[in-house]
Amino acid sequence: MRARWDSRLIFLFVAIGSAVGLGNLWRFPYLTYKFGGGAFLIPYLIALLVIGIPLMILEFAIGQKMQKGAIGSFGTIGKRFAPIGFLAIIAGFGVVAYYCVVMGWSVIYLIGSFFSPLPWEANTQQYFFNNVLQITDGPSAMGSIGVALVIALALVWISIYFCVFKGVKSIGKVILISMPLPFILLLVLFFRAITLDGAVEGITYYLKPNFSLFLSTDLWMAALTQVFFSLSLGFGIMIAYASFNSKSQSITRNAVTVCLADTALSLLAGFVVFGVLGHMALVQNVPIDKVVESGPSLAFVVFPEALSLLPLAGLFSFIFFLTLFFLGLDSAFSLVEAVTTVVRDTWKKIAVGTVAFIVSAVGFLSGLIFTTGAGLYFLDIIDHFLNSYVLILVGILQCIVIGWVYGAKKLRMYINSVSSSRIGVWWDYCIKWVVPITLSLLLLIQLYRDIQTPYESYPQSALAIGWAVVIIPIAIAAVWGLSQKSKSSA
Ligand code: TRP
Repeated sequence: MRARWDSRLIFLFVAIGSAVGLGNLWRFPYLTYKFGGGAFLIPYLIALLVIGIPLMILEFAIGQKMQKGAIGSFGTIGKRFAPIGFLAIIAGFGVVAYYCVVMGWSVIYLIGSFFSPLPWEANTQQYFFNNVLQITDGPSAMGSIGVALVIALALVWISIYFCVFKGVKSIGKVILISMPLPFILLLVLFFRAITLDGAVEGITYYLKPNFSLFLSTDLWMAALTQVFFSLSLGFGIMIAYASFNSKSQSITRNAVTVCLADTALSLLAGFVVFGVLGHMALVQNVPIDKVVESGPSLAFVVFPEALSLLPLAGLFSFIFFLTLFFLGLDSAFSLVEAVTTVVRDTWKKIAVGTVAFIVSAVGFLSGLIFTTGAGLYFLDIIDHFLNSYVLILVGILQCIVIGWVYGAKKLRMYINSVSSSRIGVWWDYCIKWVVPITLSLLLLIQLYRDIQTPYESYPQSALAIGWAVVIIPIAIAAVWGLSQKSKSSA
């Protein structure tokens, strides 16, 4: 008998827990800031409606219908489609490897919050880049492995292992805390942020659309990949989670609920971050778009600095980094569960705990490269390549296989037969045409760009790693898929 979630609520909690993560408080605000505040929000919301929600329904539906993880689900539709699941899992594994390192940074700051004065108080920039990361001048100089970071990374992976070591059973318990806690903590930060002097200016910048930026393909690409990343789509995670539902569970409402909860949290995080940026603009007397350099360091440089200017700095820093840690935890373990599910679909005899242990150990070891002095550069490169290519490709392939091979209508019939809210033919059009065409266009534009100009002017030798993480899994998947005879058992 396949394991089951204890209730529909638990399923919603785990799916929301996976979606809501560092992506909401770390990635979403820095992209919004980078693309001029309000300019980013509208493309993001459009991408959510047209692509995010239909795909979430699709992933929930296949997992629940096939009762298998990503590889098994696509394999049921046709043996040659199983590698789509493989690609999804590989992309997820690449993401989780660096994702846990970012959680590791949070652990270091979390511990630092207990010190007085705060270790970063004198110079947040220097503390992050020189003390935490021990960053080198570029990706060609590896530097050395940061000991504190390795210990933090180990702590992160040990926590993850203990969340998943009994699979669905242990996850169902942990999630009761790890999902709601960051929501509550973020509310505390929200009230702190909006009551700061200058917050209003920051929030205005955040919400006011700037239509002159709308024609930028970079903006649309960023919005789209953020939707995938934030909703955990294309990683085989939602498929695996839905496979532990009974076949008759309502789908549409669950999918919409998860998407809305995730968006709500991103929007809330935006208020926190832009409220603080507005305050800093006032304190430093500069325009809001000049306060900091946007980028992955936003959460680890601007925030600690802003918080250290306030009364109760240690307490608020603690809350902020605890929020980051718990946000990350249930997203990270969702991927481990996606891998465990796939492995156990094939080898039923292996205990959940054993697979979880192996996945965690390999995840830890793969993360070590990001703890070196060049770690941040590798993180940036791998994040860019995995999210812009592998993930988008998985999205396209999922739509083609469901839309054209399995039949969008057939899946929609199933969805409507179990769901309380029905979806219309529009969904078929999304899956057959709109999503695959949009994604393919963006993929080609991105490819053209990356070939024309090296990403972020990194040296070619470093970018080769990025191309490798794209090309090698795709090549394996292609050989695997093409060597199968197509025979459906669905
Ligand atoms: N959805 C998560 C977030 O917003 C990120 C995420 C997506 C993720 N896929 C993942 C994390 C795979 C780890 C592994 O933060």
